[in-house]
Amino acid sequence: MTIDTIRVPLGERSYDICVGAGLMARAGAKIAPFLPRPRVAVLTDENVAAAHLDALKAGLATDWIDVVSLALPAGEATKSWTALQQSVEWLLSERIERHDVLIAFGGGVIGDLAGFAAAILRRGIRFVQIPTSLLAQVDSSVGGKTAINSPIGKNLIGAFHQPSLVLADIDVLGTLTPRDFLAGYGEVVKYGMLGDLAFFEWLEANGPALAAGDAGLRQYAVRRSVEMKAAIVARDETEQGDRALLNLGHTFGHALEAATGYSDRLLHGEGVAVGCALAFEMSSRMGLCSQEDPSRVRAHLKAMDLKVDLADIPGELPDADTLIDLMGQDKKVIAGQLRMILARGIGDAFVTSDIPLDVLKSVLSDALAAR
Ligand code: GLY
Repeated sequence: MTIDTIRVPLGERSYDICVGAGLMARAGAKIAPFLPRPRVAVLTDENVAAAHLDALKAGLATDWIDVVSLALPAGEATKSWTALQQSVEWLLSERIERHDVLIAFGGGVIGDLAGFAAAILRRGIRFVQIPTSLLAQVDSSVGGKTAINSPIGKNLIGAFHQPSLVLADIDVLGTLTPRDFLAGYGEVVKYGMLGDLAFFEWLEANGPALAAGDAGLRQYAVRRSVEMKAAIVARDETEQGDRALLNLGHTFGHALEAATGYSDRLLHGEGVAVGCALAFEMSSRMGLCSQEDPSRVRAHLKAMDLKVDLADIPGELPDADTLIDLMGQDKKVIAGQLRMILARGIGDAFVTSDIPLDVLKSVLSDALAAR
C-alpha cells in the first residue's frame, strides 16, 4: 500500500504527516534527514514499549540510528509535573542537545508530555510524533498542542510546539482493544460532522468494515481526518477562532469526563461521541439544523457500538445544573461566557457564544431523565 503524505503549511514550522502501513520499519529513512547525528531519544509508555519498541528500534537501525529510550507508566497520571521533570532530566542526563530530535512514541498522553518536554528542553528542541492510538493519529499528534494536567484541570499547563514530522503507522492500530479503537473513532466521525458531509456518509457506509480491521479503509479515514485537521490548524494555529471547531462535542464531553472522574467509565473519545450527539440535539432544538440530523448522528454512533446516550455511561451522573457548571470550566469560556460548537447540519458546524441556557438545561435534563 502507498504512503499518504499530508503537509501542514505553517511557514517555517511546516511539516509532513505520513499515513500508511509499515511506517515503523521505515522510520529511520523518514527521520534521518532531521538528524545532525545518528542518535534519537524516544519517550514512550510501558505498554507501547512492550508491544512496539523493538520494531521501532529495528526501523531506526536500518539507518544506523542509535536509540536511548525512557518508558513511563501508561495512563493519564503520566501527564504530570513529576513525569515532566523526570523526562526532562533524563533527556539532559542523556546529553540530548539543542539540535537533536525527541520521538514521542505512544498515544495522546505520551505525545502531549513529550511535546511539552521538547518545547522547554534547552528552550526548545525538535520532536517527531509516532502516534500509536487512533485518537493520537487523527487528533493529538497533529497541530502542536502539548500539555500536562494540573490538579485544577486537564491540559492547563502547556505550549504550542509543532512536531517536525508525524508518522501514523496504520499497522499499530491492529493491537488496540476494540474499545480504544472505537474511542478514537469518536474523533474520526467528529471531522465528518463538523465539516464534511461526504466523509460522514463514507463513514456511515464503511465504518463497520473499518472497525473490523480493513487496512485500506483505516488509512483513508486517518488520512481524511488529518487533512481536515491540517487545514484548520493552518488557518488558526493558536485557536483564535476556527480551530475551536475541532472541539465539536467536547464541551459536553469534558463536563461528562469531569463528572465521571476522568475514569474508565468514560474514555475521552466516548465523551466526544456522546457530546456530539448532544450538540446536534441542542442545534435541532434551537432550530439550527433539521430534526433528522440528531437521529442520523445517533444512528451511526449506535451502529458503530459507540457510547451515544447518557444511559450508556455506567454509574451515577450529577444533575443538569452541575453539568452546566462543569461546562463553565471549559477552556473556550471567554469572560465567563460559554462558547460551544453547534451545527446547521451534518458537516456544517460553527462556533457560537449564543447559548440559550434554558435549551441547554432541557437537553441535559431530558437526556438524564432517559437514563
Ligand atoms: N484537539 C483539538 C485541537 O487540537 O485543537
